[in-house]
Order: sequence, then structure tokens, then C-alpha cells
Amino acid sequence: MKPEEIERMRDEALAAFAAAGDLDALQAAKVAHTGGTSPLALANREIGALPPQAKAEAGKRIGQARGAVSKALAARQVELEAERDARVLVEEAVDVTLPYDRVPAGARHPLTTMMERVADVFVSMGYEIAEGPEVEAEWFNFDALNFVPDHPARQTQDTFFVQGTREDGKPTVDDESGIVLRTHTSPVQARALLGRELPVYIVCPGRVYRTDELDATHTPVFHQIELLAIDEGLTMSDLKGTLDHMVKALFGSDMKTRLRPNYFPFTEPSAEMDMLCYVCRGESVGNADKPCRTCSSEGWIELGGCGMVNPRVLTACGVDPEKYSGFAFGFGIERMLMFRHNVEDMRDMVEGDVRFTRPFGMEI
Ligand code: PHE
Repeated sequence: MKPEEIERMRDEALAAFAAAGDLDALQAAKVAHTGGTSPLALANREIGALPPQAKAEAGKRIGQARGAVSKALAARQVELEAERDARVLVEEAVDVTLPYDRVPAGARHPLTTMMERVADVFVSMGYEIAEGPEVEAEWFNFDALNFVPDHPARQTQDTFFVQGTREDGKPTVDDESGIVLRTHTSPVQARALLGRELPVYIVCPGRVYRTDELDATHTPVFHQIELLAIDEGLTMSDLKGTLDHMVKALFGSDMKTRLRPNYFPFTEPSAEMDMLCYVCRGESVGNADKPCRTCSSEGWIELGGCGMVNPRVLTACGVDPEKYSGFAFGFGIERMLMFRHNVEDMRDMVEGDVRFTRPFGMEI
């Protein structure tokens, strides 16, 4: 066993470690140069067969060589581990400043939450929520509500007829079996009177349809909320008090309503209901320095229609008008959303752009 041979084995091992570019290569070199079948291990095994003098010398040489090899191995191991750690830190770095919520929580449309808010005011007074179909019998939408057969609101310029058109395509205004998309939530009045026990206290939020073009202030599909109260001894002052309570609950305790005479076939007397302007609270009236765009400096905003339910409607629905009386009102939710939240274009409410809905908050 020549000293040069042992040196060569050592040098080959050192060269292999130095050449190992990563920990896997180093592991392979380790097995090849320090494992049980490596040249140095085999040489070590042969020592036993040497004569005593040569044994001591060879033992010393091989021991030194193996010492040098394992030192070099450990040093290269440390080096390569440090390299790997540095690389991993860069490659697997986590940018903690990246947004964690790429899919933001959804929310319901402000029209829905507005309708619920209005309905809640009445539910807290004991009213029940009522519903009716959007594809409605013409009888419920018009006849039961005392619309005469040739009432202009039945014409196609207002009403989407689903069925009940003449051969020339014009609607049959005298056909009681016609089917329409309901033009208001008032048919639910008749449905509630026919389907419920008296007294009746209901609110009905829902979608309605009219043949309007979509523009800044019109949409062919919009929402109304209808109220109907039928009991013994109800008067117009109950209507007025209920309206006042509603606008106070929704817009603040300093709110007021006023009634202006109007006509609806299904209420008598009928009125247009206004509320104090939500924005200027009436202060823009006669005050040229402080004009109000919301109410055009009139001080009042028109909310919708109301009145005492026409005895003819009660009779058509089998209710004795001598014993029972009541009131109804109905108004548009889109309009209310517009002036309550300063929405200037109704189209924003139907286009589904989250930039419109987001400022209303993630109310669910
Ligand atoms: N239905 C009427 C409309 O759409 C509003 C209304 C409801 C009027 C109830 C009186 C009573 O214009």
C-alpha cells in the first residue's frame, strides 16, 4: 500500500466533493468515497493483514487521509446547505403585502336591501309580507281594482300583454282572461283580500313591468312596495299616521308627509303622497342662495300614490264595505333609492357594475 496511492484516493475524494454542485451530488460522492466499498475503506480493511511496522505506518496514513476526507466532506456540506438555504429564501419567498382576499365577499343589491328596510318598518308594526305573481291575470291587475275596460293604462303603451291579444296584435281590452306582466303591486291587494282572513295588514315588495324605454329616470322593470290595511273603523288619519311613521323610521324623526288630491280607480279618496325633501328638509324653498337639486327647490319629494280603498274593490273581493274600510299605498323603490342615495341615473341600478353597488356596503 503505497503512500502515493493513499494520497491519490484522498485527493480524488477531495476533488469529488469540490465538484459536487448540490447536496444530492455530494451525497453520491460521499457514498463513493467514504462508504463501505470506497477505496479508502477497502484499504483500511487491508491494514490488518500487514506486518506490524507497515501496519502502524499504513494505519496512520490511512487514518489521516480519512480524517482529511471527512473534514472536507463536512465543510462542503455546510457550504452547499448555505447555498440551498439562500436559494430557497429567494425562490420561495412569500410577499406578505399581496392582497389576501382576491375574491371579495359578495353582497345583495341596494334595491333588495332598500325593499327589506321598508318592509321591516311595517313588519315591526305587525304587518305581514304578501306576495303575488309577476305574470298576472288582467282581472287582478285591472278589473278587480276598478279600472274600466278602456282605461288608458291597459293599452300597450303601458302594459306588457302576455296573452289576450286580438288577431291584429292589439290587446283585447275587454277580455277578462288576459294575462299581463303586472304593472304595479296593487293586484296583491285583491289577492290578499280574497285569500286571507280579515282584518288584513300586509306589505308587498315586488317587481313590476311597464313598457318604458330604459333611460336615466325610467326602467321597464322596476320595484314597488304596496301596503294594504283593511279593518273595522280605519280612516284617512290612520293612513296619514302610518305614512308619517314610515318616513320618520326611514329618513329621520324630523320627517313629514303631505297628501295632494289625485285619482286612482281603486282608492277613493286618492292622494299623491309627498315627503319633506330628504336633502334640504324644505330649506331651499324661496332660498335662491341654497337651491336643492333633489326636490328642484320645492321642499317636497313625491313618493307615490295612496288612498282609502274604494268600496268597489272591497265588494269585488267579497268584503262588506259597510263593515270594513282601509287604506293602501304604493311607491317605487328605484325612486326612493335615487333620492336617498343621490343616484342620478337609474341605469346604474340595472347594469350590475360592482363599482355602483360597492359604496352601499356589504350588507347581507
Ligand atoms: N298602484 C299605484 C301605482 O302604481 C300606486 C297606488 C297604490 C295608489 C296603492 C294608491 C294605492 O301608481
